[in-house]
Amino acid sequence: MGTEWKRKVSLFDVSDDYEASLSALFTRLSRVSINGAAAAANPPPINPWSGRPYSARYLKLLEKRRELPVWRHKDEFLRALRDNRTLILVGETGCGKTTQIPQFVLDAEDLGNHSAVACTQPWRLAAVSVARRVAQEMDVAIGEEVGYSVRFKHLCSYKTVLKYLTDAMLLREAMADPLLEKYKVIILDEVHERTLATDVLFAHLKAVLKKRPDLKLVVMSAALEVEKFQGYFSGAPLMKVHGRLHPVDIFYTQEPERDYMEAAIRTAVQIHMCEPAGDILVFLTGEGEIEDACWKINMEINNFGDHVGPVEVVPLYSTLPLAMQLKVFEPGPPSLRGGPPRRKIVVSTNIAETSLTIDGIVYVIDPGFTKHKVYDPRIRVESLLNSPISKASAHQRAGRAGRTRPGKCFRLYTGKSFNEDLQQQTYPEIFRLNLAYTVLTLKKLGIDDLVHFDFMDHPAPETLMRALEVLNYLGTLDDEGNLTHLGEMMSEFPLDPQMSKMLVMSPKYNCSNEITTIAAMLSDLNHLVYVWHLYYFDCNITMCKQSARFLVSPNCFLRPREARKAAGEARSRFGHIDGDHLTLLNVCHWYKQNSKSSTYDYFINARALKYADKVRRQLVGIMTRLGLKVCSTDFNSRVYYVNIRKALVAGYFMQVAHREQNGHYLTVKDNQIVHLHPSNSMDHKPEWVFFDEFVLTTSNFIRTVTDVRGEWLIDIAPHYYDLSNFPLCEAKRALEKLYGKREREASVTRVRRLYLTPPAAP
Ligand code: CDP
Ligand code: MG
Repeated sequence: MGTEWKRKVSLFDVSDDYEASLSALFTRLSRVSINGAAAAANPPPINPWSGRPYSARYLKLLEKRRELPVWRHKDEFLRALRDNRTLILVGETGCGKTTQIPQFVLDAEDLGNHSAVACTQPWRLAAVSVARRVAQEMDVAIGEEVGYSVRFKHLCSYKTVLKYLTDAMLLREAMADPLLEKYKVIILDEVHERTLATDVLFAHLKAVLKKRPDLKLVVMSAALEVEKFQGYFSGAPLMKVHGRLHPVDIFYTQEPERDYMEAAIRTAVQIHMCEPAGDILVFLTGEGEIEDACWKINMEINNFGDHVGPVEVVPLYSTLPLAMQLKVFEPGPPSLRGGPPRRKIVVSTNIAETSLTIDGIVYVIDPGFTKHKVYDPRIRVESLLNSPISKASAHQRAGRAGRTRPGKCFRLYTGKSFNEDLQQQTYPEIFRLNLAYTVLTLKKLGIDDLVHFDFMDHPAPETLMRALEVLNYLGTLDDEGNLTHLGEMMSEFPLDPQMSKMLVMSPKYNCSNEITTIAAMLSDLNHLVYVWHLYYFDCNITMCKQSARFLVSPNCFLRPREARKAAGEARSRFGHIDGDHLTLLNVCHWYKQNSKSSTYDYFINARALKYADKVRRQLVGIMTRLGLKVCSTDFNSRVYYVNIRKALVAGYFMQVAHREQNGHYLTVKDNQIVHLHPSNSMDHKPEWVFFDEFVLTTSNFIRTVTDVRGEWLIDIAPHYYDLSNFPLCEAKRALEKLYGKREREASVTRVRRLYLTPPAAP
């Protein structure tokens, strides 16, 4: 029956007289079992979620969905869900976990209808694109029954029964509602990524399960250290779903590649020229590299003219506009019979490794790198590093080639390197990130005893101590380690504690309007910065040096390859001589006052500014909710920019560098030698600067830098600039002079008061 239905449905043409044929189709459909709340014995032709008749697209998608491997396990899954509080599900990427399992949960009758289900994703793009896909599959409008929630972007309503959200977002929800009472079932997806937020959720939800007997937890993964997870979740049952993976031939390079970018491009072109039809997926590490590679692949293939088939090269990274991201799901150009193959070439970050499934991929190019954030608690520096992937990642990447038919994976490293240099699993984020934000979240969740918190893997004590110390300096925690009132307010912002502190303090400096703009611009750029690092991997030192050319400037400025000089000149028009934070503000002011159509002439990235504007509005919303005034100093006032710089220092006083006599900068307290990034807009080398980022390369750069006065440091953060615990250095001597000056000024004022104040009238 099912097969017959499938055949007939596939004959159904969407462009036909849709209304007329729909009822005929539904009569037929009523005899087969479908999912959704419509899975009753005689499914009604009306979609029970929306109250409208099912669309033709629904039926087409349903046909495809029923072929996904998880469908074979639907009953088994529902039984396991009924009988257990916690469930672990492992299945190959693309088997239907993310899109189907939450819908199965909605079908579980014993959970009661309209019980809300949350499904977490480690990436924003995955949450948004999967929510859209599932809304289509359930034939409802996105934002109604199926919604999503990612940082600074929510699309949900009172009707929402299934919400896809980033793990960080669910954690934020837990801060307001620790028992997460609005959810009956919580699905933690892609847990093998071991993001910091997922790790915290593990421990938090374990505790919530004890308090809420009606809550169920499903933990899903593409690859898992099964025993470890079962041990952690007290023997929760494990379900395994096997995908239909075709064999994948793996090829290694004979010699280490010097430049993986160049090797990846060359390999893509070679595959296109020599291999039979089938799409190509290339893994690179970030936006800069990906855009560059797309451009080069296109150019090289075009140079061959009609000798080779045309290609469609599609970039994929999380900051690409969603409409463009969704292009990766569209089929590539079809090959003509007897002609050279035409194909789609997707150049993507790690996101295509497990979180997204792109059908039709037959060839995978894996250079073996990914970008990781790594925190060094000793020098308090967090940097994005290009680092080798793990064996588990390499396995996942290769698996992407065998979805449609037997495939090939080209690893741009040697077999020896794979065996000897790659670690087994990717290091969980909890070992490699700055924990200040996480500790603040845990405090807000009411967890005081961090040492005995039930982490799956405990963070290094040094990193935890550093986090507590930073929060203490910011005034977030008191000496007993409790959240202060200031800390409570800061925890309302989904931002780094430094940035939250700057926002909370900004009304005091009468510039919260400008500070929210700068914060929005920085939080956008933080996603987009591209940095690289000298990393030993098969003696690939040259390769890393070469990567330097892909460095992109802060994202609100465009730098098209063909107009680098003009772009640089246009950029300098916005430059503020006192620093990059003020330059960002200039760009925003300009954008607001000028015609949006002229952005391209000025090499301004309108998309980044539009996004920053959205972020800004959300920040203003939070400020207003907290009763913080949104205000500005008069633009013509002498202290307009001074106030802004002081407010910035109120948050970033720990990220300051001092210029030494030899002209180098040393970071305050940690004494790291750093250089101002060449992109900075200042016309001088100030004695003191504060910075947003520390970029590790062959030499250390500080980027997004602004001039600050030493006096402000000791006025705004005297507890941090307390000389009794300051290493001996030039900065200390400079501060001593400033404190001496302050002391003399204070005594002059005292004397004045004593002698010059007229005696009070008797
Ligand atoms: O989570 P898992 O990797 O197991 O698979 P999934 O994300 O649920 O995807 C199942 C199937 O849905 C994929 O094989 C894709 O063909 C399809 N899909 C899609 O076409 N578009 C999306 N945005 C998501 C999934
Ligand atoms: Mg998935």
